[in-house]
Amino acid sequence: MSDTVKEIVITPNDKQKQFFESRTRYTAYGGARGGGKSWAMRMKMVMLALGCDGIQILLLRRTLGELRENHLFPLLSLLEGVAKYASTEKEFRFPNGSRIRLGYCDSENDVLQFQGQAYEVIGMEEATHFTERQFFALTESNRYSGQMKEPFRPRMYFTCNPGGVGHDWVKRLFVDRIYRGAENPDDYTMIRSLVFDNKFLMEHNPEYVQTLQALPEARRRAMLYGDWNAFEGAFFPEFDYDKHTCDAFDIPKEWIRFRALDYGLDMTACLWLAVGSDKTLYVYRELYEPDLILSDAGKRIVQNTAERENIRYTVASPDLWNRRQDSGKSGFDILSASGVKRLVKANNARIPGWRVLREYLCTGENGMPRLVIFRNCKNLIRTLPLLRFDTDVTEDAADTPHEITHAPEALRYAVMSRVPDRHKQAIPFRSSLYTFDTPKREDGYGDFIAY
Ligand SMILES: Nc1ncnc2c1ncn2[C@@H]1O[C@H](COP(=O)(O)OP(=O)(O)OP(=O)(O)O)[C@@H](O)[C@H]1O
Ligand SMILES: [Mg+2]
Repeated sequence: MSDTVKEIVITPNDKQKQFFESRTRYTAYGGARGGGKSWAMRMKMVMLALGCDGIQILLLRRTLGELRENHLFPLLSLLEGVAKYASTEKEFRFPNGSRIRLGYCDSENDVLQFQGQAYEVIGMEEATHFTERQFFALTESNRYSGQMKEPFRPRMYFTCNPGGVGHDWVKRLFVDRIYRGAENPDDYTMIRSLVFDNKFLMEHNPEYVQTLQALPEARRRAMLYGDWNAFEGAFFPEFDYDKHTCDAFDIPKEWIRFRALDYGLDMTACLWLAVGSDKTLYVYRELYEPDLILSDAGKRIVQNTAERENIRYTVASPDLWNRRQDSGKSGFDILSASGVKRLVKANNARIPGWRVLREYLCTGENGMPRLVIFRNCKNLIRTLPLLRFDTDVTEDAADTPHEITHAPEALRYAVMSRVPDRHKQAIPFRSSLYTFDTPKREDGYGDFIAY
């Protein structure tokens, strides 16, 4: 390496500056195509390496090909004469002891190679291409390496677009800001940027915006405008946060109330619903808790219900009526013993059930939907737009990722319990939002009765 000083001059845009300045534990940047994400990530890593002696940095993409194209080649040119590249280890070594290692996690278990290592900074490019399990595994390696002289609080930086296997966890942490257990909301910052924020691209390649504008609608909403509820394959594209959610209000005493339960040891999803005077359904409370045995699930449901609520019935998965061979007891018996009374077997016909739910989500002539969810029901609101179409069974929802299916299934049981039997099979599939060639909606199916 020569003694000549190489000057690197960069001109970040305002959003990129905010990204550079963020000091929270986890900072995400982007949320749409072309916002200058990869550039910002690369520059941030280089600035840290140059500015913090001895810092150990890991920069990740999902595949080797993406890593080479997006980061290795630009970094080789940017850091020529500044840092030495060791190709076997895929790392840039700086004279001040700093190191940027480039890595990828092609398969789920590739992440294990970083176990036991320590990086003060981890940059995850296109975070929605990584699974939540990979993210959590990497957080274990995000710690003090012992090679820095100055104190430094470990951090992770992310760039992301909607869609992909990791859509759910990235959206939860950075967009919906729903936190569990020990997760601290102050640790998460999202800096949203669109292609319009990328002055460089707007000047040099303005046609790129037209390319994004020409995408199919849902993908365009996601990639051009960063709409996290719009990604392709959404099972309920009708779902609109503004229309289908409302702030909690006091439910009039005379409204009918009932519950809907989808039980599994992995997740108990129970919804509390009320039927408005105009037959609109309001979901006003949810229980969403993993690892509850059935008797405890029953107790939690009872604890979460005030006496005065006067629950008319609880509709629940039909398998709860099966008797267990060892005990001779059914789920129905166990729930009843826990205090959950007036249990009703759900109609579990999936496709008719999804159709009914779709009808409830669609807006009527007055522009209002027939189903509204109180904003405190965060898991239902989070998971409903994440459901995707099953790739094998037309009109059914995919049952993966399994975690997101529980609350929508409970909601399906709920709406099916409001529809008279003669209508259940008769509702046609709404075709307007999809490319399927199916009959148009006929009138007459909107009169859902309130028992
Ligand atoms: N501040 C900047 N100065 C100079 N060039 C920039 C700047 N920001 C972004 N660019 C350039 O704009 C182009 C698009 O940026 P980049 O690849 O970082 O966007 P992206 O958000 O990662 O896009 P994608 O969604 O396709 O991954 C690249 O050529 C990049 O080098
Ligand atoms: Mg990029």
